[in-house]
Amino acid sequence: MQISTSFLNSTNPAKDLKILNETDTDFIHVDVMDGIFVDGRTMPFKELRKIYKYTSKRLDVHLMVDNPKKLIPKYASLNVEYLTIHVESENVEENLKLIKQYAIKAGLAISPETKVKEIVPYLPLVDMILVMSVEPGKGGQAFISKTKSKIKEIKKLLKEYKSKAVISVDGGVNDQTKNECNEADILVSGSYILSGENYQERINNLR
Ligand code: DX5
Ligand code: ZN
Repeated sequence: MQISTSFLNSTNPAKDLKILNETDTDFIHVDVMDGIFVDGRTMPFKELRKIYKYTSKRLDVHLMVDNPKKLIPKYASLNVEYLTIHVESENVEENLKLIKQYAIKAGLAISPETKVKEIVPYLPLVDMILVMSVEPGKGGQAFISKTKSKIKEIKKLLKEYKSKAVISVDGGVNDQTKNECNEADILVSGSYILSGENYQERINNLR
């Protein structure tokens, strides 16, 4: 299991990124919010870019924005493994193609209330499905238990359409709820890891 650590709820991102750099977390999960797609808003790209110098980890960028087009080139310039947009956002196909132009992996996120069939048209363009196990917008929420069957459904769909996309689960993942995500490839976790005394121990518990 790969682990992607989210620092959305960090009170000191620079410090936490330095500590996480010494752990074996596979990725740093970067949540980006525009205040439209979700109520919350994250700091502007210019500010965020400054704190990325504290990490040499590959980034797993999650764009929770209505119109990702302008942000894609900006984030693609960083050390990115996955650049993810939402299936509920605008011009999905065009934006996935734009991500692929930068030769990075494209992710497609699906919110809890969205039907799995919505992702089907885009499967040939995606390398990762980000299954939201909380409503997008905030860290520290409780894991939605119907996610387990959703992961199963997505796994079946990927097989049916011969897609090699990996499955990542995002929101409320901890040492208990990870048991609902056995069929995933990547677990995104923020508050569970950052509320521990020892981040590496928490990461070990999730693997
Ligand atoms: C939710 C974000 C998640 C969140 C994960 O909108 O997309 O990435 O930060 O944090 P925890 O693990 O605290 O739910
Ligand atoms: Zn996220």
